[in-house]
Amino acid sequence: MINMCQKDDTIAVDLDKYSAPLDLKTLFGRPGPVHLELGSGKGTFLLNQARINPHFSYFGIEWANEYYRYSVDRMRRWQVENVRILRADGRIFIEQYLPDESIDTFHVYFPDPWPKNRHHKRRFFQPAVIAQVARCLVIGGEIRTATDHAEYFEVIKSVLLDDPVSSQRFEPVDFLPANTAAPGEWVGSNFERKIYSTGPPYLYSGDAENLSLLDIYQ
Ligand SMILES: C[S@@+](CC[C@H](N)C(=O)[O-])C[C@H]1O[C@@H](n2cnc3c(N)ncnc32)[C@H](O)[C@@H]1O
Repeated sequence: MINMCQKDDTIAVDLDKYSAPLDLKTLFGRPGPVHLELGSGKGTFLLNQARINPHFSYFGIEWANEYYRYSVDRMRRWQVENVRILRADGRIFIEQYLPDESIDTFHVYFPDPWPKNRHHKRRFFQPAVIAQVARCLVIGGEIRTATDHAEYFEVIKSVLLDDPVSSQRFEPVDFLPANTAAPGEWVGSNFERKIYSTGPPYLYSGDAENLSLLDIYQ
């Protein structure tokens, strides 16, 4: 018996093989809408989305090597052809490699809140990074984000909606649950499921006090 699997190197992106700006059509082997998840973790959201929306291309960016390797292997086992995963600091990758107006939706679910003051500079949501995200979004593109960290959510809202440049570009819309989220979920990511399963200090009941959601478009 021969068991044919998609090879790892189709899914795992080796940036050394590409020049900037990255040609997403070449990367995915076809044109069409690209959704990017920043901090894709174990890849649960990406995998489920890719399976249900085969006409969209899904690009996961994950910094942690363990999660990166796990998710690449997972995509290979499921033989999804519309997913690529890169191990990188997404902030640097977006700035240096992503073309203008190339991404339909940025998904940023449960981004690390980096609560200590001296670590705030590591946060994803800060004006310089969001300016790059805005550059890479298509007109009418979206940023969808969720967090269980109240203080960071205030920062996120402020960066997206109060910043003089961002506020001109973005407008909030209702956050609808992902079409792959299970009943009661909003996103259907691994981290959201962990929140449900582990109880305090992560416990939330789906209300805005403990889980904050934002969907904006430009
Ligand atoms: C709390 S986890 C959430 C993972 C996933 N989004 C979910 O909801 O299950 C945050 C993830 O973002 C990744 N991450 C943090 N900063 C990053 C960066 N600058 N670039 C890429 N990944 C990053 C972390 O390694 C981690 O896997």
